[in-house]
Amino acid sequence: MWDATAELPAFPPLAEDLDTDVCVVGAGIAGLTTAYHLARAGRAVVVLDDGPVGGGETGRTTAHLATAFDDYYSEVERLHGARASQLLAESFVAGVDAIERIVREEDIACDFVRLDGWWFPAVRNGGEERDTLVEERDAAHRAGLTDVTLEEQWPLAEPLGGPALRFPRQAQFHIHRYIAGLARAVVKHGGRIFMGAHVSGIEDASEDGGRCTVTTDAGRTVRAADVVVATNVPINDRVAMHTKQAPYRTYVIGARVRRGAVPPGLYWDTAEPYHYVRLLDPQGSGDTDVLIVGGEDHKTGQGGDDEPARFDALERWTRQRFPIEAVEHRWSGQVIEPVDAIAFIGRNPGSRRLWIATGDSGNGMTHGTIAGLLLPALIAGEDHPWATLYDPSRVTLKATGEWLKENVNVAAQYRELATPGDVDDVAQVPAGEGRVIRRGATKLAVHRDHDGTLTVRSAICPHLWCVVDWNSAEKTWDCPCHGSRFAPDGSVINGPSRAPLAEASLDDDGAS
Ligand SMILES: Cc1cc2nc3c(=O)[nH]c(=O)nc-3n(C[C@H](O)[C@H](O)[C@H](O)COP(=O)(O)OP(=O)(O)OC[C@H]3O[C@@H](n4cnc5c(N)ncnc54)[C@H](O)[C@@H]3O)c2cc1C
Ligand code: FES
Repeated sequence: MWDATAELPAFPPLAEDLDTDVCVVGAGIAGLTTAYHLARAGRAVVVLDDGPVGGGETGRTTAHLATAFDDYYSEVERLHGARASQLLAESFVAGVDAIERIVREEDIACDFVRLDGWWFPAVRNGGEERDTLVEERDAAHRAGLTDVTLEEQWPLAEPLGGPALRFPRQAQFHIHRYIAGLARAVVKHGGRIFMGAHVSGIEDASEDGGRCTVTTDAGRTVRAADVVVATNVPINDRVAMHTKQAPYRTYVIGARVRRGAVPPGLYWDTAEPYHYVRLLDPQGSGDTDVLIVGGEDHKTGQGGDDEPARFDALERWTRQRFPIEAVEHRWSGQVIEPVDAIAFIGRNPGSRRLWIATGDSGNGMTHGTIAGLLLPALIAGEDHPWATLYDPSRVTLKATGEWLKENVNVAAQYRELATPGDVDDVAQVPAGEGRVIRRGATKLAVHRDHDGTLTVRSAICPHLWCVVDWNSAEKTWDCPCHGSRFAPDGSVINGPSRAPLAEASLDDDGAS
């Protein structure tokens, strides 16, 4: 989360070429949990990350560990059928249980606590809201979560009183502490973790049983029988997976609240996009706690540069419902929404020995842990009951409408190649901000630092050539098409692009 004081362990850079059983790219919850189970099973594992462990979306999470499904069991049943909904629920229970087991067996002090989760209606509309709750309760029961109940009165007083769905045995923890403990456990069981290793190339195993090769931009290689790409958005795939999912930005505030004013619990409303609420440390001491509230999602790079307004709206929403005092923390992050609701965990489409974990939506803690249970079994060649459910190659015909909507949206982004820039002249780029400027046939991403120094890069995303957009909350260039993000100097923060924004100058006019 925002707690910069929580210690994340440091790991060395990759200083030599290596040979191993499995190379895991990405040290977020999906990559580390996968590496942990592989190492425990006696496999030789190398984990590469270009930042610190947990430095991606995992470090930004609000860490609701839920068996409640944010796209609803009723929707999974509609799209994929009753059996799929049962397997999903089974995997979600196993995912949260696995986290609890890892915490216990590896003795990770991360404030893990079980508590109830509550879905509450976004609006009261004369009883109709109750129908949604009843529908989801019944779908959860059919999926096997028979302990989900409809409560006429939930823990919070008016104006939020009224019915809500109660999901028992949810959980929460402190993500930085958990991920630090998980990384240490990977090493304890024989895994090797390397930081500062930006992966720029991944070659699948050859047909005749050869090995995969992972190459870093420093020219180091790791050869492995299998490669797990756990980079949140796959960096190995250029098109196929990116048509099946879409990147969204989500916003979070942390506000002081009197201890006891909000009962411990995970809270979600039924709005679209929904709000998600928890206390930082319900078991802590002191007179106050921090209420962590998220929501106000929009498609990455399509928020209209109104990030401050998103935080204001989130604060307004919270004040109308919870007795918060000062807002002390604000941050945002990116979630990847699959068009058919379920994450993609398994063999990369068309690959032999490349495996991916992506599309985990607002359930990425649970999905990432499920990846750590499923991928080692698949790599070992075992059958697994969840394999078909999470198969990245699946085609869900009933989700065609959503697939079309997201891909028409992406196609529409290419109009930006022909529109004017955000501003006409570099003099209009404020200090500490970035703006897109048109130069002839092309567009430039221009950033001005607080000393007035300008950094000029091409505004064309190297992945599939959409025009990047300035994110004033995170101070990054975000791609509206598939979620690549870049620092003000153009270096890539997350994929699918593996390359930085190209060097450019104000004299470029795109003519050559
Ligand atoms: C604000 C917010 C709140 C959330 N709240 C919840 C919640 O309450 N509950 C829940 O279940 N989920 C939640 N999620 C979702 C969840 O946090 C994510 O889905 C999950 O953390 C993703 O984990 P990951 O391991 O797939 O990816 P990441 O944590 O992003 O890890 C990917 C890693 O890959 C590395 N990497 C990327 N490209 C390269 C490269 N080329 N070379 C080397 N390394 C590379 C990155 O540095 C990164 O460390 C939330 C997300 C956000 C943003
Ligand atoms: S992320 Fe695909 S075009 Fe930018």
